[in-house]
Order: sequence, then structure tokens, then C-alpha cells
Amino acid sequence: MADRYLSLTGTAPGRFLTRRLGLPQPVRLRRWSAEQPSFRGELLHLTAGKSELDLAPVLARSGPRSGGEGPVAVVLDATGVRDVEALAEVHAALHPVVRSVAESGRVVVLGAPLDPADHHQAAVQQALEGFVRSLGKEIGRGRTVNLVRLLEAGAAESTLRFLLSPRSAYVSGQVIEVGGHGDDGGGGGGKGGDGDGDPEKPLAGRTALVTGAARGIGEAVAATLARDGALVVCLDVPAAGGDLAAVAERLGGVALPLDITAEDAGARIADALPGGRLDVLVHNAGITRDRRLVNMAAERWGSVLDVNLASVLRTTDVLLGAGVFRGGGRVVATASIAGVAGNAGQTNYAASKAGVVGLVRSLAPRALAEYGVTVNAVAPGFIETKMTAAVPLFIREAGRRMNSLAQGGLPVDVAETTAWFASPGSGAVNGQVVRVCGQSLLGA
Ligand code: NAI
Repeated sequence: MADRYLSLTGTAPGRFLTRRLGLPQPVRLRRWSAEQPSFRGELLHLTAGKSELDLAPVLARSGPRSGGEGPVAVVLDATGVRDVEALAEVHAALHPVVRSVAESGRVVVLGAPLDPADHHQAAVQQALEGFVRSLGKEIGRGRTVNLVRLLEAGAAESTLRFLLSPRSAYVSGQVIEVGGHGDDGGGGGGKGGDGDGDPEKPLAGRTALVTGAARGIGEAVAATLARDGALVVCLDVPAAGGDLAAVAERLGGVALPLDITAEDAGARIADALPGGRLDVLVHNAGITRDRRLVNMAAERWGSVLDVNLASVLRTTDVLLGAGVFRGGGRVVATASIAGVAGNAGQTNYAASKAGVVGLVRSLAPRALAEYGVTVNAVAPGFIETKMTAAVPLFIREAGRRMNSLAQGGLPVDVAETTAWFASPGSGAVNGQVVRVCGQSLLGA
């Protein structure tokens, strides 16, 4: 179902009318396209406090291309902010420039990990979180604001490249921690650079497996990983075989009709991998069986927990244990803002998605240490799919508008975030749960 309100605010009379009525003002977000893969415009590199980061070369590689008019991105290095006086420099740096940031532009604040031995530093570094989340809510015009906590500049390159590009259109109000894992995931990203190879095809020569790839978000994930050069094994239930085969064929990948809840699913995936090797495992398959708890039969509980959580645990264990991952492997799971905020009628679904968050937090450090594999999750908000098109009009409208960008996201927004996690340069991004929700008010 097309977002007609967004089309309306894209016209001059529509904008005038809706502004007069005090209604939300969504703008059409700029997303990646082959013709315009990155932003063109100025990058403002600002500093608050005394920074020791050598950021300029990293920004030169990962920022927007020059050209265009005015700033399209602002990076404020606040890693050296250790007291309230230095925090005032955050205000002083951004206050004069925020207004001039282009439509769909980016503000990225860089912070430092909270120092357990210095409560002044911890207080003001935590203050940055409230600052970023508030600016994200007020900045408008499709612009996003995110906070990256990092230890050294090189480790953040793939993250800055993502956040400073049109690929992160629907990611706002997020706090992302980078580095400090004592290992670079074998992908070359922990120490800087994007690993070897073609920056346009970072996944060339790599194999990805995407569950639930026959349609919706999974199809977009498969397409985006294929765009980035991966050979994609597309998995979905046998009943979706026709659509699955069409997706796999279009992407030059392999179709794997398989119910992910089958006891031997992990072993069958391992057998089906071309060359027996895997680099990227994306757990996207998911179902809802909504009912309030008082009306929820055990079957509804069991099926949702089985698809969304138990099969994710099982297949991850089997594939890690089978030794199919090459160095620099990536696991990306799919949570949901319902798993963060809770949702009436979704005790089963929210439990399963919160479980995914727990899985990521616990497994990430061990998987990196033992297998060189990072483990992260995307947590989508309101994404325009067949599922959300079926939601009654009023609830759908509320879901679409109740976020800082005042619109729903697209499957490709979740896919781009997955591709950033999956990229060889993201070895220092581990154990993160990043919401792709336009800074939804739910669970904010
Ligand atoms: P969808 O229903 O359009 O697609 C899910 C796919 O998973 C289908 O092709 C389905 O056949 C497959 N699948 C289901 N059970 C399976 C099984 N046992 N084995 C193999 N494949 C199976 O859903 P959508 O919207 O694309 O969602 C994808 C993921 O994103 C799910 O995990 C969902 O929970 C999550 N999500 C979606 C949101 C949205 O707004 N659409 C919001 C938050 C999370």
C-alpha cells in the first residue's frame, strides 16, 4: 500500500496545507542507487573536547564525495569530552550548523566508551546519548542523527561509511559501539580499511545464506548482498518454492527449499553450501501468530518461538560447530522493536525477538574469540511489506508516522543495515542491536 500522505507532502500545496494544520512533514528519503551511490556535498568535521583520534584520513575515505552545495554531513568528534565544560563545546559546535545540513543529510556524533573509573567522563559521555536522541527527534527533513562510541578511528571506517551514505536512510537515534573486542573478526576491519578487494563489491567471492528469502525483507537482503558481490543461498519453506526459485535465479544464487524448524536444518544447510563454505548467515525468516495471552493457544506460542528463536539458536550452533565459516564470518539475526518495547497481542513474538537480542549479546564475544565470527542483529520498526499493508488503516497510519522520519521504512533499509554488518570491513562491529525504525517512538 503506497504511502499517499508522503506523496502529498512532496508537493508544494500539500506541504503548505499540512504545515498549516501542524501535521507531520515526511520527506522522500534519499536511498542508495547505482547512479548516486553516495552523497555529494560538504562534510563538516568538528571537534568538542581534546580528541586523540586521527579521523581525517578515515573521513576522507568514508565521507560524501565533494560537490553539491552546503554540508550534507556533520561529524562531531566528542570522544575527548570528559567534563561538563567540554560538553558545552558540543552545543557550541553544532548549534550554528544544524540548520544548514542538507535534506536527508547526516549528523554523526563520535563518543568514547564510558570510563568506569571516572564518573565525570561517564556522565558526560552518557549525556551524548540523550543529546543525540533528542536532536534526532527535532532535526526533521529526513536528516538522521546517530552516536558511535569507539576506541580508535580505523575500526569505525565501515560504520562511518554506512552512516554517512544514503544506505542508512532509515537508521536514526541509534547508539553503536565499535571496537574494543580485542580481535578484528578476521576481516581486516578492526585495524582499519575495508579489507581487501573492491569497495563496490565488498562481498565478492563470499557466500551468504539468507533465511526467508522468497519475499519481503529477506528478498531485499538477498538482493542487496548479491549487489555487494555475494553468492547468495536463498532459503525458504518448500511451499514458497516458486517465488524462491525466481528470486535465486534473478540474483544468480542458489535456492534451498527447507523448513528452518526441521531438526536437521543446520546439517542440510551445511550440505547445500557451494564448496561447503559460508561467510554470512542471515536469520531473517520469521512469523507472527498474534493473540492476547488469555486467548493464545500453546500452538501459537510454540510455532512463533520455534521459527523466530529456537531454529535460530539451533542452526547457528550447528553451523558454527560444523566449521563451515571461513575467517571473518558474519551472523546477522533479526529482532524487532516489538522485542525491545513489547506489543499488545504479541507476547509470543516479542519474547522470541527479545530472545534474539539475548542470543546476540551472549554469543557475540565468544563467537568472535573462538571462530572469528561477528554476531549482530537488526531490529526493524515499521517496514512497508505485505505484512504491514494488511494492518488496518488507522493502526497502519500510526505505525508509519510515530517515528522521527514520519514514514515507514522499506525492506531495503533493513537490507542495507544487514549488508553493513556483513561487510568484511565490519570486523570491529560485534554484539550490536541496531534498530532500523526511523527512531520509532516505541521502545525509544
Ligand atoms: P514475510 O512474512 O514477508 O517474510 C518472511 C519469510 O520467512 C517468508 O517468505 C516465509 O515463507 C519465511 N518463513 C517463515 N517460516 C519459515 C520457516 N519455518 N522456514 C523457512 N522460511 C520461513 O516477513 P517480513 O516482513 O519480510 O519479515 C522478515 C523478518 O523481519 C521477520 O523475522 C520479521 O519478524 C522481521 N520484522 C519485520 C517487520 C516488518 O515491519 N515487516 C518489523 C520487525 C521485524
